[in-house]
Amino acid sequence: MKIAVIGAGNVGGALGKLWSAKAHEVTFGVRNPQDAKVQEVIKTTGGKAKAASVKEAAAFSEVVVLATPWPATEEAVKAAGDLSGKIVIDCTNPLKPDLSGLAIGNDHSAGEEVARWAKGAKVVKAFNTIGAASFENPRFGSESASMLICGDHADANDAVAKLAAELGFDAVDAGPLFAARWLEPLAMLWIYMALKKGLGNSHAFKLLRR
Ligand SMILES: NC(=O)c1ccc[n+]([C@@H]2O[C@H](COP(=O)([O-])OP(=O)(O)OC[C@H]3O[C@@H](n4cnc5c(N)ncnc54)[C@H](OP(=O)(O)O)[C@@H]3O)[C@@H](O)[C@H]2O)c1
Repeated sequence: MKIAVIGAGNVGGALGKLWSAKAHEVTFGVRNPQDAKVQEVIKTTGGKAKAASVKEAAAFSEVVVLATPWPATEEAVKAAGDLSGKIVIDCTNPLKPDLSGLAIGNDHSAGEEVARWAKGAKVVKAFNTIGAASFENPRFGSESASMLICGDHADANDAVAKLAAELGFDAVDAGPLFAARWLEPLAMLWIYMALKKGLGNSHAFKLLRR
């Protein structure tokens, strides 16, 4: 697939590298394509991915991944231009600046805000409930970490579940986009356990089924 990854930090850099290696056509949408950090990320893809402006990357792609800090996300969505008909994967978490909790929650979510900004796009919340360091290897012993996703468009949910499964995740469709109200607090729990309970990057959530 043609995938625009907006933001080339921990999340964007990892996803861009991994999907490039799976033969997807990845374009990083960044504020400065010549930036040395961005060029370093491109090197990790063996030169397979490229960098462009946020608008060019989004226009070229069928899937647009939002991997930006929450406070920058509205600006990034606006910079992307017309996203109608595209799959938008929202990886963000609306964290308070001191990581003490979420700035949005319970009766609303970042995912739903993104859908309001990205008019006509098929927004799927995903890749927000596990640390980016585990994207490369989601196996924990004999188990694969769950990748909980949610969104209002079945075809988009299926496409994102497939992209997660390609990386080795056990993809779980958690329902419509409003379920982001619960996926984002789950991410907060992951962060709390990483930072306050000393688990670092070494844990992940798994949905068990009978
Ligand atoms: N880190 C994790 O393990 C993890 C896991 C799951 C979800 N998340 C969520 O995913 C998002 C990204 O996290 P991260 O750790 O990857 O952050 P990060 O390492 O700080 O990377 C953020 C990226 O966004 C870019 N950016 C900032 N403002 C932008 C704008 N207005 N337009 C376009 N690009 C912009 C930054 O570029 P510059 O270098 O130019 O500033 C940088 O490349 C956050 O919402 C976070 O809560 C993080």
